[in-house]
Amino acid sequence: MSTPSLLILPGDGIGPEGMGEVTKVIDWFGAKRDMPFDVSEDLVGGAAYDAHGTPLHDDTMAKAQEVDAVLLGAVGGPKYDNLDFSVKPERGLLRLRKEMDLFANLRPAQCFDALADFSSLKRDVVAGLDIMIVRELTSGVYFGEPRGIFEEGNERVGINTQRYTESEIARVARSAFELAMRRNKKVCSMEKANVMESGILWREVVTEVAKDYPEVELSHMYADAGVMQLCRWPKQFDVILTDNLFGDLLSDAAAMLTGSLGMLPSASLGAPMANGRPKALYEPVHGSAPDIAGQGKANPIACTLSFAMALRYSFDKGDEATRLEKAVEQVLADGKRTADLLGEEGVQPVSTSEMGDAIIAALDASH
Ligand code: NAD
Ligand code: IPM
Ligand code: MN
Repeated sequence: MSTPSLLILPGDGIGPEGMGEVTKVIDWFGAKRDMPFDVSEDLVGGAAYDAHGTPLHDDTMAKAQEVDAVLLGAVGGPKYDNLDFSVKPERGLLRLRKEMDLFANLRPAQCFDALADFSSLKRDVVAGLDIMIVRELTSGVYFGEPRGIFEEGNERVGINTQRYTESEIARVARSAFELAMRRNKKVCSMEKANVMESGILWREVVTEVAKDYPEVELSHMYADAGVMQLCRWPKQFDVILTDNLFGDLLSDAAAMLTGSLGMLPSASLGAPMANGRPKALYEPVHGSAPDIAGQGKANPIACTLSFAMALRYSFDKGDEATRLEKAVEQVLADGKRTADLLGEEGVQPVSTSEMGDAIIAALDASH
């Protein structure tokens, strides 16, 4: 098989800082595990706007469609806050998701033992936590029409539309059930069927898809109650299946169960390509963190674990993904903490690159 190709889009703020550490990990796998990657790099978000006047150049979009996987850092920042909506950095990321048709966004939230005291919740509530949020990523209120800001009488009205077709619900539901089959065989679907027709349809379609997975226990929750339950006793969940907007909120909430937003990776997957690999983009759940950008404070673990997801879901290298996850776990067990993970007395933070180097050293020790 030819060398797998990766397109790295570091983006803005701490994006390039996190992706710099991922590059070290990619090089390590090439040198030490005989797993070379054909890596190219390009611009996205504000960085692309600065260079081309658009947050995603058509050539970059075309490259993203061709490679085996895209790795993205983060987009956005205050410098771009006043740009026209159509060229905001976030539009670049949304275009990638939409045009690559990356409908299933996997956002695992795992609490590493060494970090169980870093959550804003009690140790008992989070220790050993391992849940998977499956967020629909290419439809719903993020993309529904009509949308816009319109004149209505003597005032303006802002409109976004929550819209889901049966097939859009069914395909992401199938992803959730397939994952559940390889985990603890439980899916909790979250919507607001009590107030939204799209929620009623969501519940009906998910229930229908569940018939193909008799071993999986399906439950339904209103999304507001779901957020409450996620904070109350998150270990009741295995796979959470939800729509685009609720999934965005739920995954940021889940971040605090793991200790920091700087810990959460994600995989955005679409349909299989001709080579059998799914269309795929891997990115941390966090954003460009303008408050700490350029200071060497960013936690590179979310980016690093996103690459581990790439090894697992794009390259069928589950064992190597586990190796990388274990290396991260080891570094945390050894007491290495970036500044977002402080709170223990007498612990000095390490920088982004020191954390990256520690992960490489742990990989070396595992080899
Ligand atoms: P954010 O995720 O960038 O930051 C929220 C808080 O978490 C900040 O205090 C930040 O310092 C901290 N944080 C986030 N990641 C961290 C890391 N790896 N290490 C240490 N601390 C970390 O969210 P925000 O401030 O609401 O958004 C900033 C910009 O990022 C906005 O323009 C937003 O649109 C964009 N954004 C982009 C993505 C993405 O590219 N996928 C995701 C979310 C937000
Ligand atoms: C995320 C982000 C994005 C979203 C933004 C930056 C478009 O918050 O990936 O969680 O809302 O999906
Ligand atoms: Mn988000």
